[in-house]
Amino acid sequence: MSSSDSAFSQFKKWVRRGVLDPLEQRRSRALLSEFTHAFRSGLVTDAESIQKLRRGWGNEAYSADADYIGEVLSRAKTCDGPILECGSGVTTLVAALACEKSGLSVWSLEQDEGWAATVEERLRALEIKNAKILYAPLKNYGNYVWYDVSRLQLPTRFALALCDGPAVFSNWGDAYLRWRYGLLPVLNSKGVSLGEILLDDADEPRAAELIGNWCKEYSLQHSMVESANGACALFRSVGKPNGNV
Ligand SMILES: C[S@@+](CC[C@H](N)C(=O)[O-])C[C@H]1O[C@@H](n2cnc3c(N)ncnc32)[C@H](O)[C@@H]1O
Repeated sequence: MSSSDSAFSQFKKWVRRGVLDPLEQRRSRALLSEFTHAFRSGLVTDAESIQKLRRGWGNEAYSADADYIGEVLSRAKTCDGPILECGSGVTTLVAALACEKSGLSVWSLEQDEGWAATVEERLRALEIKNAKILYAPLKNYGNYVWYDVSRLQLPTRFALALCDGPAVFSNWGDAYLRWRYGLLPVLNSKGVSLGEILLDDADEPRAAELIGNWCKEYSLQHSMVESANGACALFRSVGKPNGNV
């Protein structure tokens, strides 16, 4: 078993055991509720409060970094349609809060049933009503793996896709290297279009090939958003007048 596979099985045990000890849980709930309240009251959510939120969420090794969360916040605020998220967590909370006033929803695909239940419970406790966590286990599509969305009813257009998942570990063999490639072929074959895509971890070793393939095969252009914590990439279509991918 590789170290990433063993990290994943530890994660599953951790989720099933209830995630955090009771004291940590209380502290975490207080931080999440403080951020949610500040956001809803229109108070500025600066980099420091995003860092605090991230700590309060309590899954720092797997949560997006504060700069990516900041990008999610500003893009979701100006969105003109529903948001698709791949990989739920603290970003689901932030995206849902950012578009709460506009009445738009976040549809978040989650590969792990236990984690889906944990995220759902946290959102319910904060009275977030505009996010749906969709449990969708990973499926082998040939030379890549992605969420099995065959049974899901999805909108035909998302204004924004937040791509911070799936987590593809080395137990998937060659598909490991294809990483998050499945977003475009799977949604295309389901007749779902995307306005923009924000890909997290755009500096990880598997990203360069994925970025090249998406741009070539789907006529996309991308720009990198770099920060001290890492990089993400923003994709838009060059071929279609409405910018849909
Ligand atoms: C990068 S994480 C998504 C994080 C989410 N966007 C956020 O910012 O909180 C991608 C996937 O990894 C899985 N995951 C989350 N925490 C994990 C952990 N501690 N260990 C292993 N896998 C984890 C979940 O299935 C999740 O959808």
